[in-house]
Amino acid sequence: MKNFSITLLLCVLLHPFLKAQLYTPSPAAVQKSKALLAKMTLAEKIGQLTLYTTDWGSTGPTIREGYKNDIKSGACGNLFNSHSTAFTRELQKVAVEETRLKIPILFGFDVIHGYKTIFPIPLGEACSWDLAAMEQSAHIAAKEAAAAGLHWTYAPMVDIGRDPRWGRVMEGAGEDTWLGCRIAEARVRGIQGSKLGQTDRLVACVKHFAAYGAATAGRDYNTVDMSERFFREYYLPPYEAAVKAGAASVMTSFNDYDGIPATGNKYLITNILRKEWGFKGFVVTDYTSMNEMVNHGVVADDKAAGELSINAGVDMDMQGSIYQRFLAQSVKEGKATLKLIDDATLRILQIKYDLGLFDDPYKFCDAEREKATLLAPEHRAAAREISRKSIVLLKNDKNVLPLKKNQKIALIGALADNKTELIGNWNGAGNAEDCITLRNGLRDGNVTYVKGCEVDGSDRSGFEAAINAAKQADVVVIAVGEKAMMSGEAASRSDITLPGVQEDLVLELVKTGKPVVVVLMNGRPLAIPAIAENATAILETWWLGTEAGNAIADVLWGDYNPSGKLTMTFPRSVGQVPVFYNYKSTGRPYDPNSKWNSRYIDIVNTPQYPFGYGLSYTTFKYSTPTCDKTTFKQGEKIKVSVTVTNSGSRDGEEVVQLYIHDLVGSVTRPVKELRGFQKIMLKAGESKTIDFTLSNDAFSFYRRNMTRGSERGDFEIMVGGSSEDTQKIKVTMK
Ligand code: BGC
Repeated sequence: MKNFSITLLLCVLLHPFLKAQLYTPSPAAVQKSKALLAKMTLAEKIGQLTLYTTDWGSTGPTIREGYKNDIKSGACGNLFNSHSTAFTRELQKVAVEETRLKIPILFGFDVIHGYKTIFPIPLGEACSWDLAAMEQSAHIAAKEAAAAGLHWTYAPMVDIGRDPRWGRVMEGAGEDTWLGCRIAEARVRGIQGSKLGQTDRLVACVKHFAAYGAATAGRDYNTVDMSERFFREYYLPPYEAAVKAGAASVMTSFNDYDGIPATGNKYLITNILRKEWGFKGFVVTDYTSMNEMVNHGVVADDKAAGELSINAGVDMDMQGSIYQRFLAQSVKEGKATLKLIDDATLRILQIKYDLGLFDDPYKFCDAEREKATLLAPEHRAAAREISRKSIVLLKNDKNVLPLKKNQKIALIGALADNKTELIGNWNGAGNAEDCITLRNGLRDGNVTYVKGCEVDGSDRSGFEAAINAAKQADVVVIAVGEKAMMSGEAASRSDITLPGVQEDLVLELVKTGKPVVVVLMNGRPLAIPAIAENATAILETWWLGTEAGNAIADVLWGDYNPSGKLTMTFPRSVGQVPVFYNYKSTGRPYDPNSKWNSRYIDIVNTPQYPFGYGLSYTTFKYSTPTCDKTTFKQGEKIKVSVTVTNSGSRDGEEVVQLYIHDLVGSVTRPVKELRGFQKIMLKAGESKTIDFTLSNDAFSFYRRNMTRGSERGDFEIMVGGSSEDTQKIKVTMK
């Protein structure tokens, strides 16, 4: 018992230092892979560099069928979109019994926010600011997927999202680079665990490398153009953080960077990823992104696309069949070397060895484990917990929330009684039937449900019934938002207001004079100025997954005090996009009383709801922050302290956020940048003093000569409960 306590204590004390390491293949995997490579024909090697989808699903054009024949001939060594122990066992059997070298297949799948138990969409989950909970949900997702025959997931997606028109913002952590890095690390740890080969973990795949989130005009698959300074400062760090947390694979992106598509971009893959960061895992393309370089116009045909890719450092061709069709010929012509192919093959084999697949190719195909693991009660409980933490209370006039059980509630909206949309886009193997609707979640209340209108379309025929129900109720709860397929891949929107006539219905209900609580269900920040002004309360619930209805009900009833804070800014209008908290001052900062400055003539510059914003059923008061030294030497650590008091009458959690502002830099600096946060629980009336330690890294950036480091001078340090609600002190670095 004593030993156990000491070990536990050591674990707790050491936890922050037990950082996952860069993935390094084990010596045994390296040695065995080399021995196997020596026996392989060129065709067999190229087979290991080939990845096909099965007919169980696809996210793009399926350009190759007959994958079973390809397995048998050794022409395809990896598959995706095939899962369940039964199906993966069937396919694995072909590989290990019917091929010459019996090399096991690697099975991949997009497990983005859950496999069977579906968690909140990643953007929603990020709003919990709870890294441990995010790590846990990634672990549960991996555990379920690994129990269903899978080895590899295409997650985490770490693309910075500053443009809500881009539907894929739902898959990431939001707009902030520093927070994005912390979340990327947590998700990699959750997915991959401490080492490959555990049967409750998967190989992580960081995507989409690189800068995919900056698609011009928020239109998916669009090109990207930015300075290297901007790229390294804001877009690149989360990929690095994920790689350095141990992610063993990386996926290229569809876009170009500096004029060269990512899949053929040697600067990104070889120079930055492998040489600068020391990445030792393998690189896979995105779905046919190799072929798409022909459309980008940097190569004339598929064969040349393959040559550009292999020379750039791409190991595996997802669904393009280019390596399979042309790589051997390219070697003959001297346009690709055998050495490049050997290195790529080794990187993939090493991971198969480290997973233990050569010892037991069916290691992840245990039907009993699958049955016991999927949708286990403890997974649902964890999903409910993180779901309620992900909810952001945007408005709560007259403390209309929480609701009281004796109130008569008119529940309105198609999304309030819908299961399929709640599990959101990229919902793994999740089943809508397993999902708790909002209507079901509110089952203990005095609730009358009326649909009112659909999510989209122009039909107003249900308005009257909804208005009548509202008139007879004490309070209206209306669920509005997007359908799952309106966000995610290939789902950019030029208009990010509520689709259909939903907003009109909300405004009609407001006219009844009854308090109207709007429950938003959506995959991106929306522009909702009329609702922000007129609704009594607004809860942003994203798509919360399997336990959505229970989690929302927990918040509506006050069984859980909301604690989420936005990780992506809500604009007032799409015309403000991109709008984000860490903007730069400009030479003519906003002045509402003057014309000749950086502003619109028809709208204010400020967003509807800023980054870091979110209310609680209680209130928090902040002291002015203090610092142990107001003057410090470059490289020296400083300690910033703030006292936070729960000044309301309910216990609650608060996300205490710390931002810095470098007042004069050799290059322009943002008006504020997040550099730390702590999520704390305070009982009603309780105060706590929170300390933040800032090291040189917190003050560092890419200086004028492109080296990363700090510069002496004055800084403001701001602490508060939102990016727009902080108190500051000034410190000087000597
Ligand atoms: C997406 C990737 C995904 C891949 C495989 C692509 O279309 O961009 O994020 O991992 O398909 O499904």
